[in-house]
Amino acid sequence: MKKTVKLFIMIATALCLISAFVFSACGGETGGNNSANGGGDANHEATDTLTFEKSAAQEGYIVTGDEGQTANIVIPAEHEGEPVVGIADSAFGYAQHTSAILSVLIPDSVTEIGKNAFHNQSALASVNIGTNSKLKKIGNNAFSGNSSLQSIYLPAGLSELGDDVFNNCGALDTITVAAGNTRYSGAGNCLIDLETNTLIRGSNQSVIPETVTKIGAAAFRRATMTTLTIPKSVTSIEKYAISDSAITKVVYKGTSEEWDTLMAASSKYWNMGNENAEIVCSDAQTSHILVVYFSATGNTEKIAGYIADITGATTFELVPQNPYTADDLKYGDGNSRVSKEHGDQSLRDIPLVKSAPDNWEDYTTVFVGYPIWWGEAAWPVNGFIKANDFTGKTVVPFCTAASSDVGNSDDQLKNLAGAGDWKAGRRFFSSSAKDDVQSWIDGLNL
Ligand SMILES: Cc1cc2nc3c(=O)[nH]c(=O)nc-3n(C[C@H](O)[C@H](O)[C@H](O)COP(=O)(O)O)c2cc1C
Repeated sequence: MKKTVKLFIMIATALCLISAFVFSACGGETGGNNSANGGGDANHEATDTLTFEKSAAQEGYIVTGDEGQTANIVIPAEHEGEPVVGIADSAFGYAQHTSAILSVLIPDSVTEIGKNAFHNQSALASVNIGTNSKLKKIGNNAFSGNSSLQSIYLPAGLSELGDDVFNNCGALDTITVAAGNTRYSGAGNCLIDLETNTLIRGSNQSVIPETVTKIGAAAFRRATMTTLTIPKSVTSIEKYAISDSAITKVVYKGTSEEWDTLMAASSKYWNMGNENAEIVCSDAQTSHILVVYFSATGNTEKIAGYIADITGATTFELVPQNPYTADDLKYGDGNSRVSKEHGDQSLRDIPLVKSAPDNWEDYTTVFVGYPIWWGEAAWPVNGFIKANDFTGKTVVPFCTAASSDVGNSDDQLKNLAGAGDWKAGRRFFSSSAKDDVQSWIDGLNL
């Protein structure tokens, strides 16, 4: 067994025991971006220069500001024996809190964040809202201009977001809304109002779900990604949707005729300032790209989604007729299905629901994605390689792994295919960002 693979097994086993969420194969999850917090608990001492006043709306106090102009603010869960239930309008907005705020810990007791509460705090990189947060409402512009904010977690009970809450938050990469929230969703790293299917705020990792019908005003304003893919489901785009962003290419999943209809229903200012962004409609694409992948626990699927989103490609998932269960994937258990298949080559011929993509001859470039299993390409992908003729195609292997590199996996698949112009494979991690995929694709010169 190769040294790196041995090392992987040792590390993976140890980490599985220590931490439940290092590899998704271990079955763990992180939940929101923050664990539940009480604010001002044993780990975080409450900021003692905060000012309070009694809430007019409910029992408890609201925070009105910070006399100490603290950089890392910890709001306590209680003040004078009563819960801290709100953050007042403009409490920490730039005009009030003139030194830069870097982080804020909002206790679970807070139900409302007032308008402009953190307006234009451009260094504010960490807004900690716990999974048990009682937060219901965030007022207009509360976090607008927080240009350092990379991730935001919104709890299940949040039911009212004002206008422009995250306006100009161009560094946002992850948007998570707790699964139980019935009003908002964070699907595809987009903040979506489920009542109107409007994408209120996007992030640089956004993959817009096909349920979205409207891209809201300034949804991608100041975003740093370079390509935005818009699904066919979108019927209107509001003003400044991509303004002041780094977006230079818009891939539209419909035809140019459908694009014209979409534009007729959209604000003429949707791309103000970014009017030169190239629009690529599905019928105008010169290269025909297919992304084929097998993914047992979703990591490779995520990367495949990014590739498809960036290139406008079609995806084709390889699904075993007998799918792998969590028990099947226990590589530390010598009796699990994967372990038996690993030990006996004759068991690795995995029948697929479908191994030959439709219109195969139309594709000139094929990305082939797979997880690394014991240093090799996960074998369910072999059935696809054997079933198709790669003559005349550019083939780009990619994989995800916990720690191993591509190794020989790309060469092994190339040999199995026996035809095609195979590029060197590229390894990603479950944590790899869309930007990583973008810069890799840019360098491929497809
Ligand atoms: C059977 C099995 C074997 C694995 N072997 C390796 C390995 O040799 N090296 C490694 O870095 N990760 C290994 N992993 C971790 C996976 O490669 C990694 O979690 C991958 O991102 C899973 O992709 P998926 O979510 O698309 O299935 C293994 C996982 C499984 C289930």
